Amino acid sequence: PMPNVLGVDHIAIAVKDLDAATQLWKEMGLRVGSREVVEDQGVEVQMMYAGATRIELVFPIREDSPIQVFLDKRGAGLHHLALAVDDCAAATKELVEADVRMINTEPKTGAHHTRIAFVHPKATSGVLTELVEGGEGFEA
Ligand code: CO
Repeated sequence: PMPNVLGVDHIAIAVKDLDAATQLWKEMGLRVGSREVVEDQGVEVQMMYAGATRIELVFPIREDSPIQVFLDKRGAGLHHLALAVDDCAAATKELVEADVRMINTEPKTGAHHTRIAFVHPKATSGVLTELVEGGEGFEA
């Protein structure tokens, strides 16, 4: 079986200055959503809305945050694509069984109490891909 993908939950952009990026994307016409620290991921997240589509601005809160590593290596830019799934644990298990390389082989806690797992970009055409269960508008 394959993961049951319900849609695109969000697209994430790594930023070096969360306030400046929020202001910039607001001026680009996006609506400003909520801001939240996700301790588990070492990030602060500002949700923005392009119509019904969510754009997540991601900022590191620790030196060892994967986002800090990304910014140091590649600078600000597109960071990941998040797919909404009905069951993150099941989707993760299915991908592991299909020998798809995962960063997380068990779901973790994401923003807004979602369950998330990252697929390794080497497995997905170079695109870091997040599986999200319980995202806004995608309740299973
Ligand atoms: Co995300």
